[in-house]
Amino acid sequence: MGAYSETFRHSLEDPEGFWLEAAKSIDWTRPPTRALDDSGAPLYRWFPDGELNTAYNALDRHVEAGHGDRAALIYDSPVTGAKQRFSYAELLDEVARFAGALASLGVGKGDRVIIYLPMVPEAVIAMLGCARIGAVHSVVFGGFAPKELAARVEDAEPKVIVAASCGIEPTRVVEYKPIIDAALETTRHQPDRVVVLQREAARADLGERDLDWADLMASAEPVAPVPVAATDPLYVLYTSGTTGKPKGVVRDTGGHAVALAWSLRYVYDVRPGDVWWTASDVGWVVGHSYIVYAPLLIGATTVLYEGKPVGTPDAGAFWRVIAEHGVKALFTAPTALRAVKKVDPDAAELDKYDLSGFGTLFLAGERLDPETYHWAHDKLAVPVVDHWWQTETGWPISANPRGLEPLPVKPGSSTVPMPGWDVRILDQSGEELPAGQEGAIAIRLPLPPGALPTLWGDDDRFVEAYLSRYPGYYLTGDSGYRDSDGYLFVMGRTDDVINVAGHRLSTGSMEAVLAAHPAVAECAVIGVRDQLKGQLPRGFVVLKSGVDIDEETLRNELVAAIRADIGPVAAFRHVAVVDALPKTRSGKILRKTMRGIADGREEPVPSTIEDPAVLDALREVLRDEG
Ligand code: COA
Ligand code: AMP
Repeated sequence: MGAYSETFRHSLEDPEGFWLEAAKSIDWTRPPTRALDDSGAPLYRWFPDGELNTAYNALDRHVEAGHGDRAALIYDSPVTGAKQRFSYAELLDEVARFAGALASLGVGKGDRVIIYLPMVPEAVIAMLGCARIGAVHSVVFGGFAPKELAARVEDAEPKVIVAASCGIEPTRVVEYKPIIDAALETTRHQPDRVVVLQREAARADLGERDLDWADLMASAEPVAPVPVAATDPLYVLYTSGTTGKPKGVVRDTGGHAVALAWSLRYVYDVRPGDVWWTASDVGWVVGHSYIVYAPLLIGATTVLYEGKPVGTPDAGAFWRVIAEHGVKALFTAPTALRAVKKVDPDAAELDKYDLSGFGTLFLAGERLDPETYHWAHDKLAVPVVDHWWQTETGWPISANPRGLEPLPVKPGSSTVPMPGWDVRILDQSGEELPAGQEGAIAIRLPLPPGALPTLWGDDDRFVEAYLSRYPGYYLTGDSGYRDSDGYLFVMGRTDDVINVAGHRLSTGSMEAVLAAHPAVAECAVIGVRDQLKGQLPRGFVVLKSGVDIDEETLRNELVAAIRADIGPVAAFRHVAVVDALPKTRSGKILRKTMRGIADGREEPVPSTIEDPAVLDALREVLRDEG
């Protein structure tokens, strides 16, 4: 039996032994004597009697072991021209002082802090500063509109918001302070303080409640790490659900540290001192897990890159960063590679750089299309490794375990389940499907350490959204199949979550915005295939009878409304006015059929359709739009 099969079998047959062994990679102030607590099933907790501090594990212990001079963080920011290296000792100093600054503002164990920062070192410092004092951070991605920020403020009820004056996009400077002010004007909950990192590209006007990051840090005293229970929350990260209200995915402290340290070593084959680059954003789970926590937990060097992979300043930005910083492995989303391929299809830029130290390209966040896989594999001549996971799971459900036993790559497959992930393919009635047949991908409970234990303040919603469709299983929301070798193929979502340029969005919340327009009687938003971004949202609206509005004006208003309410990241640009939406006789909109037509596939038309002629009209609209 190979190392993978043996390890996987061990993890399922003896989770207690497997995870207590894995837990030895972490320094505990009170080591756990038990791994799994199933007394509250279907809610599970890991390492119930363990106690630790994540920031201590990410920083102090490496310095204490004599690695204080090793690079912890390399900040590379073509959009500002800045490059900065932080050793473990330097990063520890910043984090300990920022933790002290937070404590001086009255932030303590269990208090929430919203972090609204772009890809700057202060984002990492703020996250670890929270972890150091047992405060729970919630990072909000910069591309969201005030309403999305407001929803997170209302749910997380932060004592403090830590923000920057601005983020820098290729085409514009995004001022954050007006977004925060607009959000806080609408929220019932008000933070005590807003700490603002002033950036030269756009300084913010500070009000009474606001504090300048630099002033705060000037007088800050370092504080020691505060031990917390392994089951205490480390962070909450909001993600799109099927309704407008985002889901607050909770990450516990102990299970997270154990699982992430395991995954970076055995999935990604990264060792202490290796330079590792995750080109994503700290606002997403990929950024949390693999820009910040995992690399620092194991004592590697993490690259924090501010900018897009192309165009800032050249099409070879990826290759430049890899060569310049000696990156051993890169993790990004397929969409980023498609962006590079679009401007430099022959990868001519590669010739300018020495990539001899580069070993592996990891891709996730959306489906890896075969064309992108082959392009990357041909041009880079390194293993290109697809793997599949979610905000909820925190680390890969299925992958090619490069550090354990590299398995043959099959394009289109995210390879095999990782330890603890008991993946099953189920039909509508919950029966397991044989190899080759597509069904709902579900995971038998309990989920392994690192996966979400619940949703913030809402056990009921957790159970209802994930655990009730198939009792005893976690519903991933993805469909797929396994082949006869056990390889997993993830085919797409079964709900209204879409993936736009690797960014997870809900078409349901876009529909809510369109439906609020006074001229709109009903609407549907679907995700359609896009060459660059993987998927793009596309809206269809039916007007209220008697409404007289110019279609062009309406379309512009609807596009602007989504940008204002959800944010530019939604990339919502296409909306068509139609006479009717295809529905079943009971009134359910046939979104799957619409998606098929839009993608040029002919889905079987359900026999329950109310009026088949509506589909022909829809085909015509799409044909006219090209
Ligand atoms: N703050 C403010 N606005 C943001 C933002 C942020 N952090 N991130 C994106 N936006 C805005 C963009 O400026 C753009 O606005 P525009 O409509 O005014 O041009 C819009 O949101 C869409 O952005 P994006 O989806 O990033 O598209 P893009 O064309 O600017 O770039 C890629 C396309 C592929 C280069 C880019 O998405 C990318 O680098 N993706 C990497 C993958 C990734 O990080 N995935 C996350 C999970 S792994
Ligand atoms: P997020 O929570 O933003 O990480 O998005 C998770 C969703 O992205 C998953 O449920 C999938 O639909 C999709 N996804 C992530 N990785 C992959 C992959 N390798 N292949 C196919 N889909 C993926």
